[in-house]
Amino acid sequence: MSRRRILVTSALPYVNSDLHIGHLTEHIQTDIWRRFQVLRGNEIRYFCGDDTHGTATMLRAQKEGRPPEDLLAEMQRAHEADLNAFGVFYDRFSNTHSDANRALVAEMWQALRSAGCIEERDVTQLFDPQAGIFLADRFVVGGCPRCKAPGQYGDNCEVCGATYEPSDLVDPKSAISGAVPELRTHRHLFVRLEPFHDFLAQWSQTPGKMPPETANWLRNTFLSAPLRDWDVSRPAPYFGFEIPDSPGNYFYVWLDAPVGYIATTKEWCDANGERLERFWNDPACEIHHFIGKDIAYFHTLFWPAMLKTAGYSLPTAVHVHGFLTVNGEKLSKRKGTAIFARTYLDHLSPEYLRYYIASKLSARVDDIDLNFEEFTAKVNADLVGKVVNLASRTARFVKGRALPATYPAQRDGGLFAAGAAAAVELAEAYESLDTSRAMRTIMALADRANEFVEAQAPWNLKKDPAKDGELLEVCAIALNLFRQITLYLAPVLPRFAEESARLLSLAGGARWDDATRPVAGTTVAEFRPLMERVDPAKVEALLAAARAMADEATGTAGAGAALDAGEALAGEPLAPECSIDEFGKVDLRIARIVSAKAVPRADKLLELEVSLGGDERRTIFAGIKHAYDPETLVGRLTVVVANLAPRKMKFGTSEGMVLAAGPGGSELFILSPDSGAKAGQRIR
Ligand code: MSP
Ligand code: ZN
Repeated sequence: MSRRRILVTSALPYVNSDLHIGHLTEHIQTDIWRRFQVLRGNEIRYFCGDDTHGTATMLRAQKEGRPPEDLLAEMQRAHEADLNAFGVFYDRFSNTHSDANRALVAEMWQALRSAGCIEERDVTQLFDPQAGIFLADRFVVGGCPRCKAPGQYGDNCEVCGATYEPSDLVDPKSAISGAVPELRTHRHLFVRLEPFHDFLAQWSQTPGKMPPETANWLRNTFLSAPLRDWDVSRPAPYFGFEIPDSPGNYFYVWLDAPVGYIATTKEWCDANGERLERFWNDPACEIHHFIGKDIAYFHTLFWPAMLKTAGYSLPTAVHVHGFLTVNGEKLSKRKGTAIFARTYLDHLSPEYLRYYIASKLSARVDDIDLNFEEFTAKVNADLVGKVVNLASRTARFVKGRALPATYPAQRDGGLFAAGAAAAVELAEAYESLDTSRAMRTIMALADRANEFVEAQAPWNLKKDPAKDGELLEVCAIALNLFRQITLYLAPVLPRFAEESARLLSLAGGARWDDATRPVAGTTVAEFRPLMERVDPAKVEALLAAARAMADEATGTAGAGAALDAGEALAGEPLAPECSIDEFGKVDLRIARIVSAKAVPRADKLLELEVSLGGDERRTIFAGIKHAYDPETLVGRLTVVVANLAPRKMKFGTSEGMVLAAGPGGSELFILSPDSGAKAGQRIR
């Protein structure tokens, strides 16, 4: 087969937030596909970078008192380092605030103008008179027009789910300055999309351009009616590129963001003596975008329209994945399920995640769940139990010896040949992003290889010097099967393939087809353990760290944080020894819960009023909202820490702590004294 030339991208992450395991899912998927193409001998270039423009960047830089460029440089370095740590490497990781992008955006804009696709119209929007800026939906808060819940954003209500215009909010305030916003009108520029209707209908419905789910969604949701114009300008002040022929107006971030794919290619070309046309104007070059389902709209409507107008190649395929959830919950900073790349790296090996993600993903747009019990079981059973074990229990019997000069195929029961035959199906699975199928097929090969080792019991052969020839052959077979399996796993776990090459004294740089040719005659080196079992305590520690960050982020430190830390430590002897004197400093008391109510914008908190006997009352915020209906608590006796230093929180001051046990979430249990105890009594 001839060598394909391929350009591949992952969506450009927003510069404003740290990368989390949802982002990693996408980059790991892309990287697995990229590495597969390299193994196949194809030329593939991988470009990505930060998406930098918009109000959020502007406000953050202002708040931190530094030029946005500073912030961008810092975040870009951090993002690329995080991704590299997960084994994801780019030919170039850039950002959209570059000169190359500015020039390309101007060129595309000119093309849209020349094609007669730009229109101007007045837009009326909420404006913050104090900050002097128009407010995007997320920058307006107020009461829900339907259920009246306070503190809702300008687009939808988190309490009742209503959707509305920001100007419908009851008593709206600017989230930036707190000022009361007013309606103002400004002239905006629009790209007309309707002229592209037929082209987009034809292109998007061509099989293979995108998953069928996405193509159907486009057809039913957008292409069945005239396409609406796209508002692409934002009035100053805005961090972005000023529109060349419309001073005071800036390109909306989503207009220049995808152009960043081309700009990054351009920067790489300039640095490497290549020509941009070879990638973006050459039908021989394939262009593959990897994105999440939330941004399919931008990549399958606006982007092809822009590319076509400006005379660049259209994407060969837009690969759309679903969303990652954690233990069944949406990633949320507030819930502590948004596990950041760096938090993960503090506790667990990146290879675990690469394998787990590979074992869950397919070409479908379905969401996938990261269930940490399954994660632990899968990695331990598959990678440690099956793959690593295959080499670890055979290599040591033949360390330092040469493998037989010809592979003893007559003795392996057809295993190597069967494994070689799987190359076709596996290549097809990788090519079509069905990595979950690939992982199942590979593990089935590993099962059969382990059965072979069990049946041949090299540990018994070792005991009988007369069976030395047999021992060598059995181990040569097991190690060849190990190499075959690790080659197939190489796109997911590159280190495994390197280790199998080293173990059999082979040069690196393996190719996919090497899996069809057994190794003979080379020397067996010492086996190095490739992977440790997943330690459930480390998983717990990771989840606890993520929750602690969530509490910090929402200002629910104090009661909620204490409960969460307790959850993670349950059953583990981690607390340091404490003397009776130290313990005596804690004033534990029986308290009666006088009132209990949910704290509206805090995910976990109940606000409790407790009585400590007489008229001593305390307000305590406790992270038990998911476990208790507030009404059921009123009147109950429980145990509180009465002398905890008061903690100022976003919602008020917590003047103590309620004790509870359990893993967390809906499973938290507050303590109750035996009957007869009275409010205010000290626990001794
Ligand atoms: N900046 C835009 C993309 C511009 S591309 C020209 C953006 N950034 S993002 O940081 O919000 O998301 C980047 C990618 O991560 C998107 O493809 C998005 O779908 C993906 N994911 C974000 N959260 C995710 C999960 N929980 N699970 C899987 N992917 C997720 O959108
Ligand atoms: Zn509501």
